[in-house]
Amino acid sequence: MKKILTCLIICCTVLRIRAENGHELWLRPRTALPVRVICERSSPALAIARRELEDGWVGKADASVVLAFTKDRAIKGDGFRLGQRGIEAKTDAGILYGVYELLRRQQTGLPISEEVCNPSYERRILDHWDNPDGSIERGYAGGSIFWRKSNPFAITDGDKVLWQQYARADASVGINGAVLNNVNASPLILSTDYLARVKAIADILRPYGIRTYLSVRFSSPVQIGGLTTADPLDPGVENWWKEKIKDIYQLIPDFGGFLVKANSEGQPGPQDYGRSHADGANMMADAIRPFGGIIMWRAFVYKASDKDRAKQAYAEFTPLDGQFRDNVIIQVKNGPVDFQPREPFSPLFGAMKKTDVMPEFQVTQEYLGQAVHLVFLAPMWEECLKSDTWQGGPGSTVAHCTDGSLYPQRYTAIAGVANIGLDSNWCGHPFAQANWYAFGRLAWNNRLTSGQIADEWLRLTFYPIQRQRKEPAGYQADWETHFLQPVREMMLRSREAAVNYMMPLGLHHLFSANEHYGPGPWWAPQKVRPDWTPPYYHKADTGGIGFDRTNTGSDAVSQYHEPLRSQFNSLFTCPDMYLLWFHHLPWSYRMRSGRTLWQELCYHYEEGVRQVREFQNIWDKVRPYVDDERFVLVQSKLRSQSSNAQLWKDACLQYFGQFSRQPIPPDIERPVHDLDDIIRDDTMRR
Ligand code: GCU
Repeated sequence: MKKILTCLIICCTVLRIRAENGHELWLRPRTALPVRVICERSSPALAIARRELEDGWVGKADASVVLAFTKDRAIKGDGFRLGQRGIEAKTDAGILYGVYELLRRQQTGLPISEEVCNPSYERRILDHWDNPDGSIERGYAGGSIFWRKSNPFAITDGDKVLWQQYARADASVGINGAVLNNVNASPLILSTDYLARVKAIADILRPYGIRTYLSVRFSSPVQIGGLTTADPLDPGVENWWKEKIKDIYQLIPDFGGFLVKANSEGQPGPQDYGRSHADGANMMADAIRPFGGIIMWRAFVYKASDKDRAKQAYAEFTPLDGQFRDNVIIQVKNGPVDFQPREPFSPLFGAMKKTDVMPEFQVTQEYLGQAVHLVFLAPMWEECLKSDTWQGGPGSTVAHCTDGSLYPQRYTAIAGVANIGLDSNWCGHPFAQANWYAFGRLAWNNRLTSGQIADEWLRLTFYPIQRQRKEPAGYQADWETHFLQPVREMMLRSREAAVNYMMPLGLHHLFSANEHYGPGPWWAPQKVRPDWTPPYYHKADTGGIGFDRTNTGSDAVSQYHEPLRSQFNSLFTCPDMYLLWFHHLPWSYRMRSGRTLWQELCYHYEEGVRQVREFQNIWDKVRPYVDDERFVLVQSKLRSQSSNAQLWKDACLQYFGQFSRQPIPPDIERPVHDLDDIIRDDTMRR
């Protein structure tokens, strides 16, 4: 009887679930109940706060909500106090964040109690790698929402609507900054026409509490300023930057500052003139200081050399600790190489005690299946933020080392490389939206767990909206059991699954070519510098596999604080997940599981493929709870992910098998692709 009832309920639901293309993200329109909003002040941000409450209120009908300003010292920056009467904050943005939190709690059924919510980081920034021609470096969801190729300076109503929707989505999760262009910056961005467009964007983002920033090319004074040098110690160069910055602030008085990628991957920088990163960053910092701007200087630097690439950022930056101006923040990627599916945290975190440091995460899935694979990234970021660096004693997590709780920082900040484009669902994959959401939520509160975030996002994004007010008794419990729980589990396991089928046990950078999507452990054309090819990283031969970074190898372990240095250095204590990151081991090496290294590798790849098959199954079972449009899209993407996972396994096991000279264990499913065919197809695509 109970089963029949459940089926009936489900069928009713299917009939009424409306099609959704995902454009509304987690901000799907609700049928609001009447609410009275009381606020003594007015401003564009407060008008938005009021409208959001009136449009989204699903609390008690005819309730009154007071939006009030306070001097309470418990509230920091744009933080707020949530209470039974309403919201208190010190700033307009604080009120707005409070409103979004209140609505989120109403819509997800979380309790609303007296509570102060302060942001972990003062600046919570999305870095858009968007080019002035409208393309996006590592973008997988269509062209840029900010720039375009044809008619580049026209500003249409459509542009304005999109920028406003973008700003609203950012603000709803606490993001308060946007770098509008690629770190591989075109000097054009600082030209008059582009700056006019930057101003137009900034004007729309501002009421949502979002500051605008730009990436700049270090050689801009030469390329667009007509100077003969970009030497940071040249007075003409300093002056050029001062004038340019003055122009920018005239257009955009709350401009946030610059992001700079210098002397990295061919980008110009101060070292071209025999100067240091500190010389370059400080020159810009001095020029922007009178206007209150900051310089985010990236530590993602490495040169083509035979030195271990993983060691270079630390080696270049730690000697400069204490030399940077206090409006410079060093932006450090989560790992020492480059956003790989798994890396240990960058040893720079906590190591620069006299310099402001900010983490940089990658929301766009460059190395994690792009817009095809379902990979929820919060577990990866949580792993990084919670890693103990030991730099200030036990408990010196990456989060504590960067949010000002351990070292005094003039500015605290965190950046995520955006995954947003012109696709109607913004991110290409419906579940990639969860990564945008998760980045914002973790930037606001770096103590949140991935589980909490997945739970919130799923409730907001997938709970059938028409059901919200007149659903049959028991519907919600049924939805939680049959949709929320399995899909949440799938999200939480998805990153580990990707590690398993792509590069388990500490392997990294096994991608074919520069597109960073499919497997290519063999890929090493002569004309490509070695540190851009997989063999540089896996070092597989008949003797074994892995990068020896122990103190008898590249000694990268020494960049970590004790006890990590010893822990990573020793085979007895190095965690399996970092084993081949730090050690080169024979194929017959005996793992903790009792298997040989070769067997263990085979089991991990097999497990990854199995996990994605399971995700397909989970998704197919939730069909009654999802609108057709999103259901079919996710289903087809999971199908591709599954076949990609199989390809990864077949490619890596057959390729490495040539060196291990051992068979794939008999209880593991046989490859279905031939290695020669995989390599031929891959080569033909280029
Ligand atoms: C990666 C990515 C590049 C990007 C670079 C960076 O290497 O592949 O496209 O420019 O990171 O972060 O600067």
